[in-house]
Amino acid sequence: MSTLKQLEEYARERYIPVMLDDTKELLFNTVKERQPESILEIGTAIGYSGIVMLTAAPESTLNTIEFSEKSVALARKNFAEFDLTDRVNIFVGDAREIVPLLTGKYDFIFLDGPKGQYKAFYPFLTDLLAVGGTLFSDNVLYKGLVENIPEDNRHKHITVARNMRSFLDILTADKRYETTLYRIGDGVTISRKISE
Ligand SMILES: C[S@@+](CC[C@H](N)C(=O)[O-])C[C@H]1O[C@@H](n2cnc3c(N)ncnc32)[C@H](O)[C@@H]1O
Repeated sequence: MSTLKQLEEYARERYIPVMLDDTKELLFNTVKERQPESILEIGTAIGYSGIVMLTAAPESTLNTIEFSEKSVALARKNFAEFDLTDRVNIFVGDAREIVPLLTGKYDFIFLDGPKGQYKAFYPFLTDLLAVGGTLFSDNVLYKGLVENIPEDNRHKHITVARNMRSFLDILTADKRYETTLYRIGDGVTISRKISE
């Protein structure tokens, strides 16, 4: 039986991205406090964050999206090891195609998938989130570049940084949400949906 710490080490040794420690603490505490019934996650990787959330909210179910079949296989194994298989559904495929097709309402959405796509996902995720629910978005300061966009258009990360900046501007101006920005990890926002 693996522990969460072992999963994290496994991922880091193989350069599989999983959330940073302080982000994990914030995610765990937020889910524990809000006890959502239904969670949607974009970016399963090996299931680390999914296990964190399902441990924090023992009555929750998780729908999670991942396009790497190799990661999905590891996630399935890890969810099984933590005895969580019955509480998890993995959509295997490209979130850009899956997100617009989703229906129903979620109480908690963890956005941790393709960094250049947050803005494109945003209207769909807003529809999918119940009033009173929480959108938890990771990497919103994207390597520090979002608040310091490089002037050189050839910069490797400039498109993602611009897209993320635009997402952050839209999210923080949206009156349907109360959003708090946390300058931890790679930058996190926690947004409570207060109206349709
Ligand atoms: C930062 S990792 C997720 C880490 C995970 N949430 C955790 O903390 O344990 C981002 C994941 O999104 C997946 N991903 C990236 N683009 C995607 C896309 N367009 N559709 C589905 N999954 C995607 C990657 O394969 C990767 O596993």
